[in-house]
Amino acid sequence: MLIDTHCHLDFKDFDSDRDIVLKRSRDNGVGFIINVGSSMEGTARSVQLAGDNESIYAAIGIHPHEADRVSENDIKVFQGFLEKPKVVALGEIGLDYYKNISSGENQRKLFRRLLEIAKGAGLPLIIHNRDANSDMMNILKEVIGKRASGVMHCFSGDEAFLKECLDMGLFISFTCNITYKNAERLRGVAKSVPMDRLLLETDAPFLAPQEFRGKRNEPMRVKYAAEEIARIKGLSFEEVARITTDNAKVLFKLGQ
Ligand code: NI
Repeated sequence: MLIDTHCHLDFKDFDSDRDIVLKRSRDNGVGFIINVGSSMEGTARSVQLAGDNESIYAAIGIHPHEADRVSENDIKVFQGFLEKPKVVALGEIGLDYYKNISSGENQRKLFRRLLEIAKGAGLPLIIHNRDANSDMMNILKEVIGKRASGVMHCFSGDEAFLKECLDMGLFISFTCNITYKNAERLRGVAKSVPMDRLLLETDAPFLAPQEFRGKRNEPMRVKYAAEEIARIKGLSFEEVARITTDNAKVLFKLGQ
């Protein structure tokens, strides 16, 4: 069994065949899926999907891209989602200085606010970080402390940032982009991640594996990330599946 710890089945990309995609994922050994909210609307849909499907859990979050348009009232509504069943994480939240769609100031403000909420609720974090390593670590330490429960999703940092994340107690998650021809550096970093801190995800509809690159990704393709990690680590596919599944169950308290 594999777990796709991060995908966006709520996106309209799946409107025409969501049930088929879900069936395919089950048929291909994906036992659980965490559907990750990335906006107010997406979080509402994520909670709904978890309510409607036994194998789906919800993460509630507001992506840093949304930071410029989040209102005080949104935050109030957002806190209401904490009461919903099968909410297992707060995310995705974070900082994105690569695309900079919202201002840095608003991103930091929103990130702090959502971290406070996660802390109050005792939920693990699903963190999005692009080109914001030092602000990321400073804010995490300020709001959460030296140790944090959560995952750095779609890891793209270097060895130094990896060490900081591991020291903090975070899990590290890789998507199918680890299969890309030009991902040599990322594969090198993945080699340094201890197996007991490693998670797998698709980030579907994004980041389809090399042989489907440019197409829509979907949860059943999390096996491509597992195969690549097995190659990198010199382990069997089964071992990678077992360990990463256990890790996800522990972090997100799935199936309890
Ligand atoms: Ni995502």
